Amino acid sequence: MANFVLSLSSFLLLVSAINPTAAILHRHLNLTFFNEFAASLSSHQSSFPPSPTTYFEVRRPIPVPNSLPCSTLVLQHDFASTYGRPPITSVYTPPSHCPDLLLRSPSRIVLEWSAASAGLQFDRIFSVWLSGVDLLRSCTAEPRATGILWTIRKDVTRYASLFSKPQTLAVYMGNIVDETYTGIYHVNVSFHFYFDHRQSTPPAVQAFVAPADLIIPISKNLPLSDGAVLEVYLSFHSSDEFWYTNPPNSYISDNNLTGSVSGNGAFREVTVRLDGVVVGAIWPFTVIYTGGFNPLLWRPISGIGSFDLPSYNIEITPFLGKIIDGKNHSFGFGVTNALDVWFIDANLYLWLDGKSSFTAASLLKFESPEFAPSVKSKFKGLDGHFNTRASRTISSTGWVKSSYGNITTHFSQKLDYSNKMKFTEDGNTQEVKQILNYNHGSYSKCETSVLYAEQIFKNFPLYLYSRTANQDNGSFSSIADLRLGFNEKKFSKEASGFSFSSLKNSQSGHGVMRVGGGRVTSGIASTKQLYRYESNEGCYFRDIGSKNYSLLYDESSELCEKT
Ligand SMILES: *[C@@H]1O[C@H](CO)[C@@H](O)[C@H](O)[C@H]1NC(C)=O
Ligand SMILES: *[C@@H]1O[C@H](CO)[C@@H](O)[C@H](O)[C@H]1NC(C)=O
Ligand SMILES: *[C@@H]1O[C@H](CO)[C@@H](O)[C@H](O)[C@H]1NC(C)=O
Ligand SMILES: *[C@@H]1O[C@H](CO)[C@@H](O)[C@H](O)[C@H]1NC(C)=O
Ligand SMILES: *[C@@H]1O[C@H](CO)[C@@H](O)[C@H](O)[C@H]1NC(C)=O
Ligand SMILES: *[C@@H]1O[C@H](CO)[C@@H](O)[C@H](O)[C@H]1NC(C)=O
Ligand SMILES: *[C@@H]1O[C@H](CO)[C@@H](O)[C@H](O)[C@H]1NC(C)=O
Repeated sequence: MANFVLSLSSFLLLVSAINPTAAILHRHLNLTFFNEFAASLSSHQSSFPPSPTTYFEVRRPIPVPNSLPCSTLVLQHDFASTYGRPPITSVYTPPSHCPDLLLRSPSRIVLEWSAASAGLQFDRIFSVWLSGVDLLRSCTAEPRATGILWTIRKDVTRYASLFSKPQTLAVYMGNIVDETYTGIYHVNVSFHFYFDHRQSTPPAVQAFVAPADLIIPISKNLPLSDGAVLEVYLSFHSSDEFWYTNPPNSYISDNNLTGSVSGNGAFREVTVRLDGVVVGAIWPFTVIYTGGFNPLLWRPISGIGSFDLPSYNIEITPFLGKIIDGKNHSFGFGVTNALDVWFIDANLYLWLDGKSSFTAASLLKFESPEFAPSVKSKFKGLDGHFNTRASRTISSTGWVKSSYGNITTHFSQKLDYSNKMKFTEDGNTQEVKQILNYNHGSYSKCETSVLYAEQIFKNFPLYLYSRTANQDNGSFSSIADLRLGFNEKKFSKEASGFSFSSLKNSQSGHGVMRVGGGRVTSGIASTKQLYRYESNEGCYFRDIGSKNYSLLYDESSELCEKT
C-alpha cells in the first residue's frame, strides 16, 4: 500500500530503468517508432513538402451555442528539455474583449490544447492547472518525421467560478530532447467562452447541478460549505503503466524474474481517505497511452481517454459535519498494491450557502466493509494462469441544515473486478481478460422531496493478447491484439426533470512490430472504433477504422436512432 498526498511540485515523471530479460517484459519498454524517422532523413531532399498528420481521439463534439465564442490564447510554449523543471506558467486574465464574462456565467467554457511536433519522441504525460485546480490530465501524441498536429477540446464549464478573475495557468510536461529524441512539443492553450443569448441565468435553487461556487486544490484549507464533491485525477506509469498485466509476485520470484518484470498482481484500487478512513474508492479505467503495446495502433486514432484521462467524482457531502467541525482534517489518497509511479491530485468542489452564516451537518450512516481480492494461481515455470476477483461497496449518508432546509445526501458505490491472465509458450504469449464495473449513485433530499438523484453505471472491458518472439541478437518481434471499452449509463433527476445518457465506446486493434534497441524498427497496425452516445439532449455516432496511419473509413452522425 502506498499512501501519499500529491501536490503540483511532486508531479514529476519518474522513469525506472528496467532490464528486459523475459518476453513478457517487452511491452514495458517506452516505445517509439524509429524506422520511419531514419528512412525519412535520407529522403529529405525529395521534392514533396512534408505534410503533418492530424492525430485525434474519437469523442462527441462539445455542444456549444450557435454563436461565436470569446477566445483567449493563454499560453504558447515550446516544450523541449522540460523534464524535472518547474511547470511552465502564464497568467490568465478574463479577456477584456469579453465583457459578458463579468456579468454572467458562460453557458459553455471550452479549453483548447493544440500542439504540433516533428521528429522522434516518447509519449509524455502532462497536466494543465488553473491556480492549482487540475483541468486536464493527458498524454502527448508521438510525433513522426513529417510532423503531427493534434487538438484537444475539453468542456471545462464545471470550473466556471475560476474564470471571472486572474489565475495562474500552469502546464507540466516532462520532455527530454537529445540527438535521437528530437521531438519538441509546440503548444497553445486557449479558452473559449460561449454565451447563450436566449437563456437567462439558472435559478439559484439548482445548487446541485450548477457549477460549484468554489473549487480548490485539495492541499488548501477548507471554508464552510453547503455541499462538497472531490474530483480525482490520476494516471499510472513506469512499472504500473500496464498494471492490469502484472503477474503475482510468486510467479516472478519462482521464475527468477525479480527486478525485470513488474509484479504485485493485476488489481489496483485508488482510495480516497478522510483522516485516514476510506470514504470513496476508484477502480480506474485502463487508459493506454500513445506508445502502449504497439505505438502504431494509435496513429492517427488515439486510445480511449488518452488525450483526456477520465477523472472520478467522490461525493463527500455526507461527511460535511466532520469537515466543518473547526478541527484540522486531512484528505489523502492511497493506491493498493502500487508500484512506481502514480500521479494523483484532486479538486474539491464546494457549493456555498450565501444566505446563512452557519451550516450544521452530521453523518447519519457510513459503511465501508473491508474486502480482499481473491487470487487463484496455477503455474509451472513461465506458463500458467491467474484469476483475480474483487468487489466492494461503500455508502454514506449525512444531513446538512442550511438556508435550503435540512438536506440529506446519500452516496453509494458498488465496484466489481475480474481479471483472467494466462501465459503460454514459455511465457511468450500473454492473454488478459479484464472487466471492471464502477457504479455509483447519489441523492439529495429535503424532507421527502428529492432535489437531485443520480445513478451511474460504468463498465470497462479489456482484452489483450500479445505474443513475442525473441531473436538471438537481442531484438524481438511482437503481435498484439487488443479490445478496450468504456461504457457508461447515467440517469439523473433534478428540479428540471429527468435526464439520461448512454455511451458505448469500444476500440479493437491488431498490430505487428519488430523492436531492436528499445525502438520499433518496423511494423504495421490497424485500429477500429465504434462510438455511440445517446441522450435526451442529443446523440453522436461514429464508426471509424485506420491502418498504417491512414483512415480506411469514417462514418458519423448526430441523429438519434429510434429504438
Ligand atoms: C524511456 O525513455 C526515457 C527517456 O525519455 C529513457 O531514459 C529510458 O531509458 C526509457 N526506458 C526504457 C525502458 O527504454
Ligand atoms: C499557436 O498559435 C500561434 C499564434 O496564433 C500560431 O501561429 C501557431 O500555429 C499555433 N500553434 C499550434 C500548434 O496550434
Ligand atoms: C532461480 O535461481 C536459483 C538460484 O540461483 C536457482 O537455484 C533456480 O534453479 C532458478 N530457477 C529458475 C526457474 O531458473
Ligand atoms: C491546524 O493545523 C495548523 C498547522 O498544522 C495549526 O497551526 C492549527 O493550530 C491547527 N488548528 C487546530 C484547530 O487544531
Ligand atoms: C435533519 O434531518 C435528519 C434526518 O432526518 C435529522 O436526524 C436531524 O436531526 C435534522 N437536523 C436538524 C438540525 O433538524
Ligand atoms: C536481428 O535479427 C533479425 C532476424 O534475423 C533481423 O531481422 C534484424 O535485422 C537483426 N537486428 C540487428 C540489430 O541485427
Ligand atoms: C504503409 O504506408 C506507407 C505509405 O504511407 C507505405 O510506404 C508502406 O509500404 C505501408 N506499409 C505497409 C506494411 O503496408
